[in-house]
Amino acid sequence: MKEDLIRYAAALPKAELHLHIEGSLEPELMFQLAQRNKVEIPFNSVEEIRAAYSFSNLQEFLDIYYQGMSVLLTEEDFFDLTMAYLNRAAADNVKHVEIFFDPQGHTDRSVPFDTAISGILTALRLSRVQFGITAKLIMCFLRHLPEDAAFETLKQAEPWLDQIVGVGLDSSEVGYPPSNFARVFAAAGKHGLKRVAHAGEEGPPDYVWEALDTLHIDRLDHGNRALEDKKLVERLAAEEMTLTVCPLSNLKLCVVDDVRNHPIKKMLDLGLRATVNSDDPAYFGGYVMDNFEAIIENLDLTREDIKMLASNSFAGSFLEPGEKRAHLAAINLVN
Ligand code: ADE
Ligand code: ZN
Repeated sequence: MKEDLIRYAAALPKAELHLHIEGSLEPELMFQLAQRNKVEIPFNSVEEIRAAYSFSNLQEFLDIYYQGMSVLLTEEDFFDLTMAYLNRAAADNVKHVEIFFDPQGHTDRSVPFDTAISGILTALRLSRVQFGITAKLIMCFLRHLPEDAAFETLKQAEPWLDQIVGVGLDSSEVGYPPSNFARVFAAAGKHGLKRVAHAGEEGPPDYVWEALDTLHIDRLDHGNRALEDKKLVERLAAEEMTLTVCPLSNLKLCVVDDVRNHPIKKMLDLGLRATVNSDDPAYFGGYVMDNFEAIIENLDLTREDIKMLASNSFAGSFLEPGEKRAHLAAINLVN
């Protein structure tokens, strides 16, 4: 029965809407790039790297995540990283991706904005022909840094704005409320960029309200803690706000203590537009289908729930209405 549902989920076309490309850096590639670029990393083997991936909160993960990025130096590195992710996504029958990147994680260690984005975009351009996947790029601001630094990043992005679909907000959440970034998000909106933000991962429901009311988000990343506030749930449902939910990430970062207690089924039952995503798959133990498998194994999801999760991923994407309709029609063809 569960196997049938997993087979069904695997056969469905899916979109991935919450994926940090730097979080798809597998230990094998990290090791290879460290050698290629002669970068010292504090690990002697792939096994040692994997063994270090045990976290009790978001910050413990972020410390390792920023350290891991240190091996990414050249355009080719960013290209290789992105191609490796697309290859994995294709294996999971992902047909469309909207990926995040963290420019400040690179510019702050003297890797130019243009180097990072060029390598990523070259891979994304190849994506349709090589993997049958369409792709969009979202540039995130690191919220533990000041808003001035986000403005500087937006300036660096100006020559590339026709190839960036939107801006996001990520990194350490508690203590860094969304309203700190209201002005830079408004400026991004004036450029015609979509707006998304991590909120309610570790932070309180107030941060989700702020993301809605001060950042004017088009999509909510995580949103787990919104469930603590009935009025907020009603608003998110009424506005058909898409939530990019990341079950294995939530488990690894101790946002939930057990997948059996993951709220994604409850979110669907409350009428929220939840989707399934991998966040930082190299660090959290899996890609999109690993996340589907985990929730199917541990929650009482129905076939309709699985279909809804896949449909939501296209409905909540930044694809054009006609493209969304085509993907939704393809979902209906899967038995
Ligand atoms: N950056 C990469 N992954 C993240 C997450 N899950 N939350 C906040 N910032 C991140
Ligand atoms: Zn994330």
